[in-house]
Amino acid sequence: MDSNSSSSQRQNLLSIKTEHWKPPVYSRDSNIFQKIRLMLFRFLDLQARTIWRDLSGELPKVKGTALDMGCGMQPFRHMFSPEVRYIGVDTVDSKAHFGYEAPDTLYYSGKIWPLSDKKADFILCTETLEHILDPLFFLKEAFRCLKPGGRLLLTVPFAARWHFIAHDYWRYTPAGLYSLLKKAGFSSIRIFARGNQFTVVCYKIMGFIFSLIFPKSSNYFFECLCRLIGLLALPTLVISAILANLTLGKTGSVDCLGFTVFAERPQKSKKRGGRAKEN
Ligand SMILES: C[S@@+](CC[C@H](N)C(=O)[O-])C[C@H]1O[C@@H](n2cnc3c(N)ncnc32)[C@H](O)[C@@H]1O
Repeated sequence: MDSNSSSSQRQNLLSIKTEHWKPPVYSRDSNIFQKIRLMLFRFLDLQARTIWRDLSGELPKVKGTALDMGCGMQPFRHMFSPEVRYIGVDTVDSKAHFGYEAPDTLYYSGKIWPLSDKKADFILCTETLEHILDPLFFLKEAFRCLKPGGRLLLTVPFAARWHFIAHDYWRYTPAGLYSLLKKAGFSSIRIFARGNQFTVVCYKIMGFIFSLIFPKSSNYFFECLCRLIGLLALPTLVISAILANLTLGKTGSVDCLGFTVFAERPQKSKKRGGRAKEN
């Protein structure tokens, strides 16, 4: 079979223009039912769980002005102390492309962040950098908006499928992240893995079983068959979730769910504080 005929049987992924699946939105755990729902959600959504774990050690210590860039539904806002001045910022396309719309969010268009220079003591940016076409420009804007000595905390997925199609552009490696952050002017860069190979295997098994339980097919009988197999595989899903959660206590590895990154704007910067230029 020549390469032309084999490629004609395969789907050109660029023909996928959109998808209906949206990740579940976290809710605040104010009553017992929401607490149980959130616990279950974090048990099953390993990306969310590991991000939550990394942020819970950091956000309560933040002081001054905190900027949450690409804040979505602001799922981590309540982790900041009430004394912190929280500013949630997102793109105007958030509702159309991601299905997110939260009150008290500053929506902006274009590439320039809607904030003055050296405004923030802390910038949080969770699972957003992979949705940015020009990540270097974006990180230069983060640098500009941070006070000297201010800190950036960002998370990116690594072993995640193509999501929010077509607005998911990149998967970063630690070397790529380091290079971008250095070019943007950041120092004290530290990059940590979330999970390890074993977590990723469990995560993929769980994802596969979920896709069987919630199939996307125009064929009714095929859909029913997938659902049936998915429901029969439920014990495997639960066992994978338990094993995955157990592996999270172990050290992360280079084959992981994603990365949590810490960086600082140095006290004295080398002529990079100005607004990034459009290229
Ligand atoms: C996967 S969601 C993450 C939302 C939230 N940070 C969280 O962790 O739940 C990606 C977010 O990136 C935002 N986003 C995409 N392009 C952006 C841009 N150019 N500037 C700011 N935010 C952007 C989307 O609107 C969306 O809220």
